[in-house]
Amino acid sequence: MQERPLLIIDEGTTSTRAILYSVAGEILGISRRDITQYYPSEGRVEHDAAEIWDKTLACARDMVAQAGGGDRIGAIGITNQRETVVAWDRKTGTPLTRAIVWQDRRTAERCRELRDAGHEPMIQERTGLLVDPYFSATKMAWILEHEPLARELGDRLAFGTVESWLVWNLTGGLHITDASNASRTMLMPIAGNDWDDELLKLHGVARSSLPEIVDMAGQFGSTRADLLGAAIPICGLAGDQQAATIGQNCRAPGDVKVTLGTGAFVLANAGFKPPRSTHRLLGTVLTQLQGERVYALEGSIFVAGSLVKWLRDEMHMVGSAAETESLATSVPDNGGVCILPALSGLGAPHWRANVRGVIAGLSHATGRAHIVRAALEAMAHQMHDLKQAYEGDGCAWRTLRLDGGMSANNWVAQDLADVLDLPVERPRDVETTALGAAMLASVGCGYDASLQQAGRMRPEVSYFAPRMEEERRAARLELWHELLTSQLAQCAA
Ligand code: G3P
Repeated sequence: MQERPLLIIDEGTTSTRAILYSVAGEILGISRRDITQYYPSEGRVEHDAAEIWDKTLACARDMVAQAGGGDRIGAIGITNQRETVVAWDRKTGTPLTRAIVWQDRRTAERCRELRDAGHEPMIQERTGLLVDPYFSATKMAWILEHEPLARELGDRLAFGTVESWLVWNLTGGLHITDASNASRTMLMPIAGNDWDDELLKLHGVARSSLPEIVDMAGQFGSTRADLLGAAIPICGLAGDQQAATIGQNCRAPGDVKVTLGTGAFVLANAGFKPPRSTHRLLGTVLTQLQGERVYALEGSIFVAGSLVKWLRDEMHMVGSAAETESLATSVPDNGGVCILPALSGLGAPHWRANVRGVIAGLSHATGRAHIVRAALEAMAHQMHDLKQAYEGDGCAWRTLRLDGGMSANNWVAQDLADVLDLPVERPRDVETTALGAAMLASVGCGYDASLQQAGRMRPEVSYFAPRMEEERRAARLELWHELLTSQLAQCAA
């Protein structure tokens, strides 16, 4: 078989990208476009689904041109921001509303009602998830309640997460989702492979509106020939955090990675059985290949790179994300400043949708560099709490594999090693999410027989060893926990 490059679509929260990979795993080209973030009111975060599609197609076309035509591409892999809900009309393909993004907190009240009514233990047992606005189901229910057209459409209504929306458009009407994305909806039992009737009823979502759940590698369908110049097979699908875990070769139980993107998402391989957390972590599908599952234990932190973006775009404290590294290094410590980065509430292990961000410890001596440094330090603080939760669940971290755009910041990588007191390894190319989707596509189109074989694509890594004195670490964590505890106490659960 003649092996041709793989076209990977990585549709993230802040940007959409198309990346062309050689079969050996080298990046041949990248095309990227930013996605407009809509914040219509406090706690709400929306995307324009038509913009996501238009910009993704434009990026894919750039890479097709670079490859010399659609017929020069072997397969497509898609990876995406998870949980975000798109609703559209099957007949016209038109989105009904703006997409409700995973960070959106508008269903916090509904989630409280579900918890108060005693549904959380059943939901956790069945789906591996906790009741939080993060997941797709209450977002779908919100659309059904507030968008009359969604109810009037009946069987013409289609719901999907972003990979479903992209596949629908690329193929001209195939409605599928992969098991990793489906496991984030709160509508699929973690140990099952179809939508759950009781959960559909609880959230008022009709089965007819949902996609078919499929594997993560295989021949799912082909692109409309008029879009990319050829009918290119779509062979890999994965939620972006699962893709990054695959790209990091976390194949053995206990192997753990964190991706520092918009948020920070820790996934640890949990083997063949769905994990059951007693420390407010999530059970989720890591891979499904030929019907066989591997699971992951997940800790989802909602704010990581988005805090740096906020410092840059809203506070104008830095001109670029890269500048944070030199600013953090320019001061010996945080000068007493501590940041609780709860811009979208708090995710794992606290799950408090209503808590908001705080910058504490300001004085006349506080400078811009202290605030920037405290913002970066918040990553390690949040990760420290997750590390303890994993230990509580019997899944202690041995080393941490780091990736995502923000992991290119050496100061952050070293601070994680220091505060977690753990060796951290980082691949030369930190675009592990796209790499994982390339590995899936490679398996799906038959270039590789297994993910193990496709693991040959992972680049070499560099290491960060912990070197912080215990006293300093303890002081940092004490300041953090004081701030966290006071805010948790002030905000009703
Ligand atoms: O669960 C949300 C996650 O998939 C978002 O990923 O990379 O866009 O921050 P990212």
